[in-house]
Amino acid sequence: MDLDVDFVRAQFPAFAEPSLAGQAFFENAGGSYTCQPVIDRLTRYYHQRKVQPYAPYEASRLAGAEMDEARARLAAMLGVDGDEVSFGPSTSANTYVLAQAFRQFLQPGDAIIVTNQDHEANTGPWRRLEQAGIEVREWQIDPTTGHLPLERLAGLLPGAKLVCFPHASNVVGEVNPVAEIGLMAHEAGAITCVDGVSYVPHGFPHVPTLGADIYLFSAYKTYGPHQGIMVIRRALGMRLPAQGHYFNADVLYKRFTPAGPDHAQVAACAGMADYIDALAAHHGGAGLSAQGRAQLAHDLMRAHETALLQPLLDYLTSRNEVRVLGPHDAAQRAPTVALQTGRRGADLARELAAQGIMAGGGDFYAVRALTAQGVDPDKGVLRLSFVHYTSQGEVDQLIGALDRVL
Ligand SMILES: Cc1ncc(COP(=O)(O)O)c(C=O)c1O
Repeated sequence: MDLDVDFVRAQFPAFAEPSLAGQAFFENAGGSYTCQPVIDRLTRYYHQRKVQPYAPYEASRLAGAEMDEARARLAAMLGVDGDEVSFGPSTSANTYVLAQAFRQFLQPGDAIIVTNQDHEANTGPWRRLEQAGIEVREWQIDPTTGHLPLERLAGLLPGAKLVCFPHASNVVGEVNPVAEIGLMAHEAGAITCVDGVSYVPHGFPHVPTLGADIYLFSAYKTYGPHQGIMVIRRALGMRLPAQGHYFNADVLYKRFTPAGPDHAQVAACAGMADYIDALAAHHGGAGLSAQGRAQLAHDLMRAHETALLQPLLDYLTSRNEVRVLGPHDAAQRAPTVALQTGRRGADLARELAAQGIMAGGGDFYAVRALTAQGVDPDKGVLRLSFVHYTSQGEVDQLIGALDRVL
């Protein structure tokens, strides 16, 4: 069954918003449009439940229950326990906190592995552990393809305690073999911390199948509010030194959230599950488990995106002045496509804006990945990123605009 794109777009108020009419959105990797159930829950929270949660009075009870619901329903989709999911202000803030925990957990002389494919959020805080006497080993990408070769990882693993890598880079786009990398890391006795920020907008994964000990993503890119979501598997989470208040240390989902939760946004995250459930139900998946519904939605999204992406990649690779970073085969990548053109990415984005295309140019905080591929980060790339609500008509509009601008 194909994704019903009209149904999908009807769940996103942005597509009915007059001020956005006629403009095609291709900066989804920066942050997606928000789905209606999230907006509804956020509005309801602020109208009806904006009180301190978890007290006995009714508004407070409902506020706390909705926050618990968000955690439980996301956990069910991701295939983990409710308390293995926690919320922080952003993925960057979450990795910062986790790195503080590992600073206490690791011993001077221990080794960790980071990549130069990651967004800075999942590499910078880990690299700073060098100041605590930790050896930082860099798993380097191939400069031509941006690919992370597993053979190179194998050479770095002996003695390593932690491997931090992306499920997909926000400028290379390749979907990395997380389960395979996890197996290699675990065999070598290392923990894995996977940045799923650029992957989850294209489908919620089953975290146990991926084998990640830590799996991170950002709800504002997955149709939700501005929160960073962290899955920390229990075996690791109860061993890592807690970073929250000492009296909360026995509650796993409070151990790595020293900022304290944004109650309304946490509650509104349940709207992402509402949306995925509605999507699955509309496509015949009403009787499935939460995880089955997430899988169905994931597969529908991937199939639609891949079908739209391949012709776009073919068009882009046919142009001599354009270098497409990452794989040219849509099946191997997310629809987050960074282009090196000899011109400043931001200038091209400005010209596209005049053509009704919302896209971005710059380094996207992936300075190391761009530099390693020979892209001057000051010039940056033009990035074109879309998700499952993007239509064929919008891709055609983009190609027409690129024809005029390039
Ligand atoms: C791949 C990737 N990882 C991490 C981040 C950081 O996420 P946040 O903005 O939630 O800190 C981003 C943000 O763009 C990203 O694209």
